[in-house]
Amino acid sequence: MKQIPSSTADMLPAAAAFVERLRALFDAGQDEARIWESACVYFRELLEDRDLKRHASTWPKSLSIEGKPGNLLFYEDPDHGFVLNALIKAPGLKTSVHDHGKSWTLYGIIEGAEKVVRFDRLDAGPRVPETAQLVETGSHDVSPGYIDFVPPWEIHQEHNTNQKTVGLIVRSQRSGTFVQNRFELATGKVSQYDGPVQLPYKLCI
Ligand SMILES: [Fe+2]
Repeated sequence: MKQIPSSTADMLPAAAAFVERLRALFDAGQDEARIWESACVYFRELLEDRDLKRHASTWPKSLSIEGKPGNLLFYEDPDHGFVLNALIKAPGLKTSVHDHGKSWTLYGIIEGAEKVVRFDRLDAGPRVPETAQLVETGSHDVSPGYIDFVPPWEIHQEHNTNQKTVGLIVRSQRSGTFVQNRFELATGKVSQYDGPVQLPYKLCI
């Protein structure tokens, strides 16, 4: 794998400022739920940044690497492990029903729109099960400026509209370093996977 970017030296100023603010939350020793709630406020400001929007217009049209979904990887924090990713979804794409394992995720839309459907577990099985019983609990539309807050183990499915969706993502740790569940609604079967392939990419002017 190419070297993982872990310096803010040549990053877009707004993105570097976001990273520094998030690092300060960790350095202050707050609990994770509070850190990610505060990070949401800072992330909303980052999503409004003009340079970021301009940069996003140069990202690839869709991101699928050897048939697997991919993320651009802009930054991985050397001390706290959080990462900055981008996701580009082709029009009409629907993800599996899945969770993000033990990680926290802030998912912000820069361009496009999609619907996120949420599910709850009805069974009392382990966090990483072989089977599970799910019930749909609702859905919401996600559009530019909106941040989808995904705590650990929350089960969901993303339905893209008929246009490309470009998202900026903050994750508490890099995909591939934790297990995620993928749920089959019809059969109740659950399988585990490593999440999107990570493609190092520069978020610089
Ligand atoms: Fe997801």
